[in-house]
Amino acid sequence: MSILVLGAGGFIGSHLVERLLDGGRPVAAVDLSVDKLARVLGRPGLRVALNDIREPAFDLDGFVRGADLVIDLIAYANPGLYVRMPLEVFRLNFEENLRIARACARHGKRLIQFSSCEVYGMTPAAVVPDKLLDPDDPGLATFSEDRSPCLLGPVGRHRWIYASAKQLLERVLHAMGLAGELDYTIVRPFNFLGPRIDFLPSEGDGVPRVFSYFMEALLRGEPMKLVDGGRRRRCYTDIGDAVEAIARIVDDPGGVCGRQIFNIGSPANEVRISELAALMREIYAERLGVPESALPRPVTVSAEEFYGSGYQDSDRRIPDIAKARRLLGWEPRVGLRDTLVRAMGEYLPPFRTVPAHDAASSDRR
Ligand SMILES: NC(=O)c1ccc[n+]([C@@H]2O[C@H](COP(=O)([O-])OP(=O)(O)OC[C@H]3O[C@@H](n4cnc5c(N)ncnc54)[C@H](O)[C@@H]3O)[C@@H](O)[C@H]2O)c1
Repeated sequence: MSILVLGAGGFIGSHLVERLLDGGRPVAAVDLSVDKLARVLGRPGLRVALNDIREPAFDLDGFVRGADLVIDLIAYANPGLYVRMPLEVFRLNFEENLRIARACARHGKRLIQFSSCEVYGMTPAAVVPDKLLDPDDPGLATFSEDRSPCLLGPVGRHRWIYASAKQLLERVLHAMGLAGELDYTIVRPFNFLGPRIDFLPSEGDGVPRVFSYFMEALLRGEPMKLVDGGRRRRCYTDIGDAVEAIARIVDDPGGVCGRQIFNIGSPANEVRISELAALMREIYAERLGVPESALPRPVTVSAEEFYGSGYQDSDRRIPDIAKARRLLGWEPRVGLRDTLVRAMGEYLPPFRTVPAHDAASSDRR
């Protein structure tokens, strides 16, 4: 089975391509950049195309026709961009992705479409806290693919354009599936984390995710900036665990993945962003052999100050992974500390390395 991976040079793509090649799958990898694919360049079975899929010269139909399966990871995926360039986010994340889905439909190819846990939006606790007996009840923040509503903020908060574009794309794929036009599976990642995520803010052109901001602050000896005090909660998922789930969707044992949406996330790894910062400080201090008190303390900044106007955040999101457990036999295994040690290790080579999927040594938080 040959696989077309669009967005192969990104964080998830680079890990996934390696995994697919290890499994003996031929891969056509398309991206604007292939820097993150350095480990696999030249391997047998890999064809790399350095292309902007928006360019008229890009032969989307040719690539789709030549594949048995298409995996679409292309998106602007960093919150800073949703605020800074909402229209481009819509164009790429909806219009271009729809074009890919239509090409798959035209050529009768199965599509694995990357969506996002952002489609769930906020919890009722963020909207009507006074009406709830226990706003901190995790049940209010546990989202399941086929039951939970999607609660997005006002249009004026344009950060929601990312979630809206992803959600609308999902709805169109669902309708195409109902019409018998497309065989698809949708993946909703919950904060995957690991080596090669993004870039340090000072080194790249763009806006990385929070891990990279914290990492750079540590490396520069500057205080980490906690947006609104870092009270939001996220469930971080080790990239190795995530890729294992995606590989199972690729294999699709028993043909169970057709027209399904899968949450891929690690409910046991829930942390507040302030706790994520604290854990990174702790690991960094340990590594350097200095007391944590030697590192600058984090400071609070407002969301407006950090992201600009039009920002609003998901307060909390916990994946219900019963479907992935049932249909894929998948279980996330890696604890947050081990994931962070691996991700931070990229910047600090002497870190001890932790083998992927070492459940026994995994330290869950
Ligand atoms: N990483 C996560 O935790 C997470 C969470 C939710 C959703 N997702 C979704 O998963 C997918 C992959 O995420 P990621 O973390 O790997 O992001 P990423 O930004 O690292 O990867 C996206 C890739 O798409 C490529 N790309 C963008 N525009 C392109 C174009 N016009 N032509 C060719 N390539 C182009 C980028 O160069 C990049 O390599 C995205 O759809 C994202 O929305 C990821």
